[in-house]
Amino acid sequence: MASTSNQPRRAYVWVWLPGRTEPVFAGALESRKGQTARSRSAQGGGPFDFAYSPAYLERPDAVSLYSPELPLEGGWQEPAEERSMAGCLRDAGPDSWGQRVIDDRLFGKRGPAASALDVDDLTYLLESGSNRIGALDFQISNTEYVARQTPATLDELHQAAQSFEDGTLTAELAVALTEGTAVGGARPKVIVTGDDGREYIAKLSLSTDPYPVVKAEAAGMDIARRVGISVPQTRIVQSMGRDVLLVERFDRPGDGTRRMMVSALTLLGLSDFLGARWSSYPELLDKLHQLAAPGAGSLGRALLERIIVNILIGNTDDHARNHAVFWNGRHVELTPAYDLCPQLRMGWEANQAMDIGRAASSTTQGTRASNRSTIIAAAADYGVTRTEAADMF
Ligand SMILES: Nc1ncnc2c1ncn2[C@@H]1O[C@H](COP(=O)(O)OP(=O)(O)O)[C@@H](O)[C@H]1O
Ligand SMILES: [Mg+2]
Repeated sequence: MASTSNQPRRAYVWVWLPGRTEPVFAGALESRKGQTARSRSAQGGGPFDFAYSPAYLERPDAVSLYSPELPLEGGWQEPAEERSMAGCLRDAGPDSWGQRVIDDRLFGKRGPAASALDVDDLTYLLESGSNRIGALDFQISNTEYVARQTPATLDELHQAAQSFEDGTLTAELAVALTEGTAVGGARPKVIVTGDDGREYIAKLSLSTDPYPVVKAEAAGMDIARRVGISVPQTRIVQSMGRDVLLVERFDRPGDGTRRMMVSALTLLGLSDFLGARWSSYPELLDKLHQLAAPGAGSLGRALLERIIVNILIGNTDDHARNHAVFWNGRHVELTPAYDLCPQLRMGWEANQAMDIGRAASSTTQGTRASNRSTIIAAAADYGVTRTEAADMF
């Protein structure tokens, strides 16, 4: 392994409380010495434990960062087995796109050389941009908040992302790219502010795209919108002669406040490693039923509609990080749908990335086949009749 020693052992978690426009210090995330009894094999270099600060706990407006994982109480809270940290904190960090940019900037490694690096999740949290998805940020100080932010135009950012892909990124351009590194996902992306003052995730084309991925995603989002699924506003713009998809951020209402978010992976209590095999829509629905505010409407029907749209547009990349909920300290609510991108398909049959039909037991997998019969057979799991499911498809 390449040396990545001197990685930080502690980060301070700051949160934008609901309705607030400034962050407050909520607690510390730390690799605690003397915890050798616990497995060091947790993914992401952990385990990193979290403790709310006593001052935060005394605030009358304090909310839990996500109470199923980090209830609002004193003392150190350990992540679940094999997790580097609580999922709600890990959700706010970069995935492969941001991690690749950070590996390059910090260690000068890219491609296969970067895969030999042993960078822990805490480093990625502290080295990524502050304008992250949801309402959290990670700082080296618990008293002074300093945003890691470098405003740049879409063309400048696009240029930087292209140089990164080409292997010609300069240190100066690398700084500009930091801003988008905290946003999850694998595709290259940056954050831009529109003339309207709203923030957008700008999803970029790659010269190696096997099909017009950005256009395909724009079409997928458009179809979903037209059939009544809640999706953010999207629009294609040109930058450097290429298509860029601007997706309006739903975690930034536009008034300076930020909305807390948790991925479906965290809701399901899964890690990235386990998620691919065990993610299940019916179990996601169970969690929504447990944690949604009373009177939230027919959650089963709403979820089934999203699954049907994914099948119909050929989006088989509907894994548990491509669904999320808002968290307001007490309840969850499905966010608008995102990352609805038709995928290349080999052959005539396909499977969704999560079970559609409930598994018969905890050791078997449910049905995932991307077709109408799966939907009709699973109707009862979503609280709709088979006839209703057939009409919906
Ligand atoms: N409109 C949006 N508003 C807020 N957060 C979003 C929005 N769209 C996506 N996200 C967040 O950004 C992450 C990456 O976006 P995504 O479209 O899934 O990128 P990728 O195609 O690289 O997977 C998502 O996992 C989600 O957490
Ligand atoms: Mg995604």
